[in-house]
Amino acid sequence: MNYFPQRVERPAQIALLAALREVIAEAPLFIPAMPRSGNPMSVRMTNCGPLGWVTDKESGYRYQATHPKTGEPWPPIPNMLLDLWHEVVNYKAPPEACLVNYYAGSAKMGLHQDKDEEDFDAPVLSVSLGDTGIFRVGGRSRQDPTQKYALKSGDVVVLAGTDRLAYHGIDRILAGTSDLLPEGGRFNLTLRRVTKPE
Ligand code: SIN
Ligand code: FE2
Repeated sequence: MNYFPQRVERPAQIALLAALREVIAEAPLFIPAMPRSGNPMSVRMTNCGPLGWVTDKESGYRYQATHPKTGEPWPPIPNMLLDLWHEVVNYKAPPEACLVNYYAGSAKMGLHQDKDEEDFDAPVLSVSLGDTGIFRVGGRSRQDPTQKYALKSGDVVVLAGTDRLAYHGIDRILAGTSDLLPEGGRFNLTLRRVTKPE
């Protein structure tokens, strides 16, 4: 994985958080449910961009253009994030989806691959804000050995090339490690290209 510790400096983290609050005001965080079982995930989720990643019991993992609760289109991806994509990622087209995950308390995310996109040539870029998250990343097989990274507020991770389909997840959040979010917890913003560009 390509790791860019502290790629987003504190003043930019504050500005990004303000933009994120506007996104959430328009597109509230919701509780995603696992396909088939309908079990709730421990993260809270929303999106910005032309497409957003959602999941529920009935229809499972997918991208769609509207918020599952409000039925409204997702708000646009903040310019700061589009700029970051073009600065960090070498790809011919902009991202279409920005998934917002919020981890409070004991929220975590099991090991998975990001594979609901049509385009695996495009990298996946993520930005962390708030408390440190213990990120686990392995290879393209679930059995491959994994490595852990303590992702701090402002850290950027890119999964590209042979790492694009690497298994990854969040073991846990270290409460009280950042004062960026008054409410505590961690936001992770994941930028993805969903469709193949022309
Ligand atoms: C994800 O894989 O959707 C989130 C990863 C993270 O929170 O860093
Ligand atoms: Fe992921």
